[in-house]
Amino acid sequence: MGTRYLLIRSLADGKFHSGEVLAQQLGVSRAAVWKQIVGLREQWGMDIHAVSGRGYRLIHPLELLQQTKILALLPVVTRRVLSKLEIHDSIASTNEHLMLQSPVDVSSGHVCLAERQTMGRGRRGREWISPYGNNIYLSLLWRFPLAPIELSGLSLAAGLAVVRALNQLGVTEIGLKWPNDVLWRERKLAGLLLEVTGESEGPSQVVLGIGLNTLLSNQQASRIDQPWIDLASIPSGKGIERNQLAAELIHQLTNALECFETEGLMPLLAEWQQQDLYHNKIVSLRMGERTIVGKHVGIDKNGALLLLHAGEVKAYYAGEVSLRLDQGDEHANAAD
Ligand code: BTN
Repeated sequence: MGTRYLLIRSLADGKFHSGEVLAQQLGVSRAAVWKQIVGLREQWGMDIHAVSGRGYRLIHPLELLQQTKILALLPVVTRRVLSKLEIHDSIASTNEHLMLQSPVDVSSGHVCLAERQTMGRGRRGREWISPYGNNIYLSLLWRFPLAPIELSGLSLAAGLAVVRALNQLGVTEIGLKWPNDVLWRERKLAGLLLEVTGESEGPSQVVLGIGLNTLLSNQQASRIDQPWIDLASIPSGKGIERNQLAAELIHQLTNALECFETEGLMPLLAEWQQQDLYHNKIVSLRMGERTIVGKHVGIDKNGALLLLHAGEVKAYYAGEVSLRLDQGDEHANAAD
């Protein structure tokens, strides 16, 4: 493990550590410790307090991910379907990592977590901001006997699984924005990216990636181009342990994937509608250059968004559109 990661591990408890002791522990000079502290502050946006005579301390202690802890927190049914759990200190992208594996090297139920991503991928080619030691960056590989086209509702089922996991841990006032953003008061808390491959008649493989913000500084979040929130800023989200959160996400997601394989989205439609923050609201759908304004009247069993526009209900599929609450009154009539 590199000096930087060893240093973070020493500082993770949020207590003061003297430069001299750190240098001894890491087998480097005090100047080298200082250089790493500067890098952590300037390149990684970490808040580190330095006081002469006392040393350095992380302003926000870190709870790093631990494989043994996460495994111990999983129910037996989930342990059975989990083929592997790997945790990386730093990786380009957990999704990319699983996508690049040869099929013989990964089995269904393989989970990859990381403390940091250097090229975190969001939907529609966006970057997913992934600083070290906070937040959840999790990908899960799953194989289905189904054809890729039959998986169109899967991203909605996965979004619901994330809401269930958060509710289970006591987080309230959250809901879904089609197709699968998890929001708290119209601010994005978590997003999902599903990458599906397979034969046209099946089988297929999905790599399902979740990014969930637990703590982001304004500096780290400066490149996010939409309203965002982290668990630490939500009254009901404070104090949730990351290992516990990772375990609950794995549990709910694997459960949702298993159910989806046999029953599809149909049994989840009512629950999805309950969690749908935009249901019956006037929204605008962006499809490349085109924007359609209409009333969001529900989702169908394939996961399509049903939009009432010019007296007609039409279905729009995930991946094509982005959904925003439409503020303009003039549009309200257009959709009635
Ligand atoms: C979105 O744009 O809403 C989807 C964000 C998905 C981010 C996660 S973080 C873990 C996994 N690895 C990635 O590179 N992306 C997903």
